[in-house]
Amino acid sequence: MQDARLRKLEGSRVLVTGGGGLVGSRIVALLARVGAAAIVLDRFDAYPHPVRGLFDVDTYAAKVVCGDVRDAVTVRALVARADFVIHAAAYTDVAACTRRPDLAFAANLHGTQTVLQEVVASPVRRLVFVSSASVYGNGTGNGARRFTESRPPTPVSVYANTKLWGEHQVRLMIGGSSAREYSVLRYFSVYGEPQIPKPGSHSWMVPWLAMSAQLGLPMLLNGGGHQVRDMVHVDDIARATVLTLVADKAAAQTINIGSGRATSVRDIAELIARHYPDAVLRDAPRPDGDPLGGYADTRRSEELLGWAPTITLEQDIDRYVSWLKNNPHVVPDWILPTTTPGT
Ligand SMILES: NC(=O)c1ccc[n+]([C@@H]2O[C@H](COP(=O)([O-])OP(=O)(O)OC[C@H]3O[C@@H](n4cnc5c(N)ncnc54)[C@H](O)[C@@H]3O)[C@@H](O)[C@H]2O)c1
Repeated sequence: MQDARLRKLEGSRVLVTGGGGLVGSRIVALLARVGAAAIVLDRFDAYPHPVRGLFDVDTYAAKVVCGDVRDAVTVRALVARADFVIHAAAYTDVAACTRRPDLAFAANLHGTQTVLQEVVASPVRRLVFVSSASVYGNGTGNGARRFTESRPPTPVSVYANTKLWGEHQVRLMIGGSSAREYSVLRYFSVYGEPQIPKPGSHSWMVPWLAMSAQLGLPMLLNGGGHQVRDMVHVDDIARATVLTLVADKAAAQTINIGSGRATSVRDIAELIARHYPDAVLRDAPRPDGDPLGGYADTRRSEELLGWAPTITLEQDIDRYVSWLKNNPHVVPDWILPTTTPGT
């Protein structure tokens, strides 16, 4: 059932940067359901082409523009006709940002700066900046860590550093403007079909581990799988983000979007392995930039957004695995084991 508060968005126009990605496309679909017109700006090159079809953004968006958030002319033209902006475009993969800090800089700093300067000069009412729980880094202390928004951020990856810069820049540029509002959302670990991993990634555990098991490959547990993640379903993430556009108390706030539950990567693997009787779990080294992780303090999201997740990991892993079994063609070729010539 639809949240009645979202009716306020009926007839409004929302620019969703990165609207062609996993999260952005779910936001776009939700906006369409509540009668808002979503305008998508996306480069559409984060995944191989068939994934664009999987995310189905063309069905729900009022307008789709294939372009770059660094292109000030395009961004200006789009914000000029928007009531709200959700800035979700980013070079999103932690490992890829470590390999290519220049690309992370281009999308996540230069791109964010372009969006901010155009929003400041536009009639947009509120900008929601999509940040990440990665800004908390490893946290401090032993055991599972609860991350509270007031905790000083300690990013341990290039990706997290770009997100933290974006947060500060949003506060500096929009926080100083009396006419515009902003909110910063720190998503924890997003999952849900049709998420698929990117080459060389160590993020997005559910698809990685499920696809490995489905192909009969070992399910690799980096660092023994002791890292913890706070897993939030993409539909819950989309609802929290769209609610942030209309929640009065969310203005000028930084808000965790998580479940408040810590799940170890090993626990996630074991939930998936129940569906694959021959699955083998194997320890592997922990890559650079892979945080030990933690879980969300959810008090702000409850109080300021009136939001809590509705989908549990246990329910959704069953759904993800059955989707994957019914759609084996979604497994990217580069995950398939390569045969050594002559063997
Ligand atoms: N998936 C997660 O677990 C997670 C966790 C925390 C935060 N986030 C953030 O949520 C947002 C959405 O992530 P996602 O999981 O949907 O990733 P995604 O890679 O599926 O989507 C990101 C989209 O941004 C687009 N993009 C990248 N650079 C661009 C540019 N310069 N110009 C225009 N478009 C560009 C990509 O083409 C892609 O479609 C990102 O800001 C990400 O950092 C995601």
